[in-house]
Amino acid sequence: MSFEFSPVPQIDADIPIIETILDNAFGLSRRTKTSYRLREGNTAAPGLSLVIRDSEVCIAGCISYWPITIGHAMQPALLLGPLAVHPKRQNLGIGLKLMQVSLSKALELGHSLVLLVGDPPYYSRVGFHQVPEGQLDLPGTYDPKRFLYLELVAHALATAKGLVLSAPRSYELLAALAEPHG
Ligand SMILES: CC(C)(COP(=O)(O)OP(=O)(O)OC[C@H]1O[C@@H](n2cnc3c(N)ncnc32)[C@H](O)[C@@H]1OP(=O)(O)O)[C@@H](O)C(=O)NCCC(=O)NCCS
Repeated sequence: MSFEFSPVPQIDADIPIIETILDNAFGLSRRTKTSYRLREGNTAAPGLSLVIRDSEVCIAGCISYWPITIGHAMQPALLLGPLAVHPKRQNLGIGLKLMQVSLSKALELGHSLVLLVGDPPYYSRVGFHQVPEGQLDLPGTYDPKRFLYLELVAHALATAKGLVLSAPRSYELLAALAEPHG
């Protein structure tokens, strides 16, 4: 059986099916993960939520990205994930295809740095490396060996330092600091 994998933009009607794929892939407790702290109150990065449609299983795979900022400098970056592939379509190259297409779109859209928490042996296939310990932090518990980065633009990690927050959360904090006191 041969499949042609063409990632296309996700539409709202895909969301219930995507949620089922994610529950299967990561379990019902997935929302307790630190990555989800960066998605709460956030809106997926425009143009980067992609799916691969499939006549049998409807959606064979999906990926999305979330705008984040790093440290006091509020350096913009993207959080990759979730990425998941339907159990009937795993190990056919779908996950890699979704990443390759979306990462190249992210570069076209002007993004320079992508972070994620995931399995290093898999994500290293598209160039992710472990974030040097102590350089960045996440708002919750995580295994530093699974905290990975990819520079879309050379040296984008060099200037990044500090706590990673969802972009809306960091703008909220900035606005609160700017408010006059007393
Ligand atoms: C992980 C996942 C996104 C990979 O997508 P996929 O389309 O099945 O994988 P691909 O076809 O792109 O790549 C397959 C290759 O990656 C390897 N691979 C798959 N998942 C892997 C993992 N978690 N760690 C290391 N290698 C992995 C496969 O062994 C295979 O290797 P080969 O090419 O040497 O045979 C998908 O299997 C999935 O949704 N799994 C459930 C969720 C999960 O396990 N997530 C863990 C990653 S954070």
